[in-house]
Amino acid sequence: MTATSKRKILVTSALPYANGPLHLGHMLEQVQTDIWVRYQRLRGNDCLYVCADDAHGTAIMLSAEEQGISPEDQIALMKAGHEADSEGFLIDFDNFYSTHSEENRQFSESIYLRLRDNGHIAEREIIQAYDPAREMFLAERFIKGTCPRCGTADQYGDNCEACGATYTPAELISPRSVISGVAPIDRASVHYFFTLSNFHDMLLQWTRSGTLQEQVANKLGEWLEMGLQDWDISRDAPYFGFEIPDAPGKFFYVWLDAPIGYMASFAQLCERRGLEFDSYWCRDSEAELYHFIGKDIINFHGLFWPAMLDSAGYRKPTGIHVHGFLTINGKKMSKSRGTFINASTYLEHLDPEYLRYYFAAKLTNTVDDIDLNLEDFVQRVNSDVVGKVVNIASRCAGFIRKRHNNQLAADCTEPELLQQFVAAGDAIGELYETREFGRAVREIMALADRANQYIDEHKPWVLAREPGNEQAVQDCCSVGINLFRILVTYLKPILPALAARSENFLNLTLEWENRGDTLRSHTLQDFTPLMTRIDPDKVAAMVEAARQPTPAEKEPAEKSAEEQNDAAFISFEDFARIDLRVAEILSAEAVEGADRLLRLRLSLGDSEREVLSGIKSAYSPEELVGKLAVVVANLAPRKMKFGVSEGMVLAAGPGGQDIWLIEAGQGAKPGMRVK
Ligand code: 2FM
Ligand code: ZN
Repeated sequence: MTATSKRKILVTSALPYANGPLHLGHMLEQVQTDIWVRYQRLRGNDCLYVCADDAHGTAIMLSAEEQGISPEDQIALMKAGHEADSEGFLIDFDNFYSTHSEENRQFSESIYLRLRDNGHIAEREIIQAYDPAREMFLAERFIKGTCPRCGTADQYGDNCEACGATYTPAELISPRSVISGVAPIDRASVHYFFTLSNFHDMLLQWTRSGTLQEQVANKLGEWLEMGLQDWDISRDAPYFGFEIPDAPGKFFYVWLDAPIGYMASFAQLCERRGLEFDSYWCRDSEAELYHFIGKDIINFHGLFWPAMLDSAGYRKPTGIHVHGFLTINGKKMSKSRGTFINASTYLEHLDPEYLRYYFAAKLTNTVDDIDLNLEDFVQRVNSDVVGKVVNIASRCAGFIRKRHNNQLAADCTEPELLQQFVAAGDAIGELYETREFGRAVREIMALADRANQYIDEHKPWVLAREPGNEQAVQDCCSVGINLFRILVTYLKPILPALAARSENFLNLTLEWENRGDTLRSHTLQDFTPLMTRIDPDKVAAMVEAARQPTPAEKEPAEKSAEEQNDAAFISFEDFARIDLRVAEILSAEAVEGADRLLRLRLSLGDSEREVLSGIKSAYSPEELVGKLAVVVANLAPRKMKFGVSEGMVLAAGPGGQDIWLIEAGQGAKPGMRVK
């Protein structure tokens, strides 16, 4: 490619769901994409980067409901948070939109209508689990029950976390709706299907066209070989999404309009900047289109999406760039270990460029998982970026400022060394282009080692002690600064803020193409620290802030009244699930070490329970025996500081001696339901 042929490129990252904050897994993807985009721009290509929130679906509808706000308000709040997080990590989107937009509705409708008119939409009645209390159909993850294979309770409707069995919700033992708690019933409904098998040949050809990663092409190849199933693209009301034009009460499944959100976001950008939408999306477009995604959503991007685009008359992606998952300290992110780290939590403690560098250093162009090892993170960033790169400038800048009024030498004494640094850019550029960022970083650090070695050999600090060495000091430090300039140019896509501070110090703009123009008699600005070392205490503080106690740790035996009053609203359905029973107190005793607790043995007629109850200040154990109390019988057993409590006895009152046990009236029998 010649320097004059400017590529037209459109790039996307996967659209984050609007039902939760961004975490470091999202940031891995956005950082990977952003580095690639910034590299393209640095090379003078016309590279646009769009994204959006993925705002539809049942989860978002329910989470808005839980908070007592409209889905529109919920997605607006999330969008503001996501945008702030991305900005915090220096992600340079040209546009960030939402799939819940008018543009997206129009594209979704028109694409659907074209698929339908082309004969790729089928209607079929299916039987599905339905929640009669909440009056809605239930996806598998909204049904829980006992595993039919191993008997473990509380498993999701499609697989068992304990034994790994997969099954249908109908096979679960005593299934219940996660939303209302009632048992789901089977109900029929007409669904719309996208007949993907019609695209088998086109997809076979597209997946083998050579632009996909090998592992991805192989995976898609396996699916194609197994035969493509029709894809269910409709959901029944209530659903937060777009209603299907010719089907009242039916909505597009969130995954239908999600990738179309790439187009909608780009359309909004076109509107704002006066760009031509069609020149990027028409079938014979010369623009390149790349989607950066995680390996869990290959099927949507590698099968459904190209088929939709093909049938609707649009171009297909030039490439799908798939990355692996993020692990932290070698394990899946975990809330109790403090490694489920939200982007905002990270930003409260640490500089985003530390992580951008570390991710870059670990990234390859394969789908292998990336591990963020927190100790290695501190060590690597400190030794590479601060200890090697920044060090070059800080070692040279002082001499140039103090002895040469910030002016570099008029001649370069090491043209060959500089030339080697310039020449290395071709390989480094190629590594960026092919998303081998880890290898690019290794090449750059090898150059940084050479630059430091050069300074070590010439020892300007020794030269400076002897009179008459002014020129030698200026020459050596000028070479150092020239090398530094090239290095930071190479790092600019990864470390844009460090590059900006360096540009300020160097008094120029770092550009790839003119990196070989040696600075002669050039005047610098005063040197200011370009990056400080990571303080390991801050990493520890971040982990502590991210740590959420395990359920066992979470419930201290006694909570303050304020804490108890803090509870959020629960829905009526949740309330209706509370199973209140009459219980006879068989025995009661004080709990050693606890000020307020009594250990009660209860009879519920056909079973007995042990419950820890905070009523010691009002009742002596003896007077409780034989009383008929009211107990919450379906509370999951809770591990408390002083043992497991298998229910809760109801009592009321302001506290101290004024607590009254709620007793069942005469005629009540243990086990009887309280209405
Ligand atoms: O997996 C996810 O998080 C989805 N929200 C990604 C959507 S990407 C695109 F297709 F919209
Ligand atoms: Zn099981």
